[in-house]
Amino acid sequence: MGCVHGSFLPTHCLSMEEVCELQNDQTAIRTPANGSPSPPASHLLSKNAQKKLLKQQRFEAKKAEKKAIAKEQKKREKERKRKEWEENLSNVSEEEKMNLIASRREAKKERMEKRSDERGRKIERLTKAKKHGQNIVIDLEFSRLMTPTEISSLVQQIMYCYAVNGRSASPAHLWLTGCDLDIETLLKRISGFDNWIIEKETRSYIEAFLSQKEDLVYLTADAETVLDSLDPKKIYIIGGLVDRNRWKGITMKKATDQGIQAARLPIGNYLKMSSSQVLTVNQVIEILLKYLETRDWKDSFFRVIPQRKRFEDDDLGENGRVECNENEERKDSLETQKKTKWIGTDPSNDPSDD
Ligand SMILES: C[S@@+](CC[C@H](N)C(=O)[O-])C[C@H]1O[C@@H](n2cnc3c(N)ncnc32)[C@H](O)[C@@H]1O
Repeated sequence: MGCVHGSFLPTHCLSMEEVCELQNDQTAIRTPANGSPSPPASHLLSKNAQKKLLKQQRFEAKKAEKKAIAKEQKKREKERKRKEWEENLSNVSEEEKMNLIASRREAKKERMEKRSDERGRKIERLTKAKKHGQNIVIDLEFSRLMTPTEISSLVQQIMYCYAVNGRSASPAHLWLTGCDLDIETLLKRISGFDNWIIEKETRSYIEAFLSQKEDLVYLTADAETVLDSLDPKKIYIIGGLVDRNRWKGITMKKATDQGIQAARLPIGNYLKMSSSQVLTVNQVIEILLKYLETRDWKDSFFRVIPQRKRFEDDDLGENGRVECNENEERKDSLETQKKTKWIGTDPSNDPSDD
């Protein structure tokens, strides 16, 4: 994949200014192949959807502001710890000082060795999965339908998927197909992205798996067919979309137009949802990975789908209908971001390592 080299900053480390700059850049970049600028996605939306989009954008701006504040607090905390350490050293004898420094160095060395062992095992598992693992594709051909913040959110979800796959006892062979410049530029900002053991394709999955079209299965909540189990010969495709289901039915339509199979997860067979059965990209991948490990759908759903999304008796509204929560995807994205902070960053950036 022809990649643009950017700075290797995880997206969640961007400052407010950088986020805004990125958003402007992306709006400028997102032009069709003929070079003329495409109309903003919002022009294609109904009034109601535009309102929702505006609300979401305001929410995202606030979120970015909060993030910048948290970053500043973290910086101050690091500085406080450094001062505390120096103060401790200045209050002890020369011999105790040497001991303290030596034990700190030893602890750091042990941590580094442990991490390096873990990394080695992860590389081994992922390399094996590249040959024998279940093929799972994230279809990145929808970038024109998302706002810049939604694209950033998708990139974080991909980062999270990669990390979860690396930790899994039965990792999948992950593919990113239809990767355009917008997404690629953001992915390149993730620390270590170039070394990821993942297939990166600018081609669509249809081209990449030309001779295996009959094995392609698009996973979509709108399919009539319910997935029974995972077939190692099949290639499962997940729509790389963060849209709060604004583009309802789009992946089902795509699969139908392309004449490929479509299936939905068997969620309804095992649990009732308090909102729609449309999950985020990382939730779907996590479920598939859990299933590959356990061959147990129920366990996989219960482990991955947040409790708040599951149905409880008192979720019934006055008229006995299940109340849906429009903000579910937003909450899911937030949860993913929080989790990504811990698992997606380069371990050498650990603040305790100074
Ligand atoms: C946030 S959803 C995108 C929803 C989008 N409006 C659509 O029509 O697909 C991200 C992707 O996760 C997968 N997905 C989500 N829920 C699913 C379910 N219940 N069964 C199968 N796949 C699902 C689909 O591939 C979907 O495109």
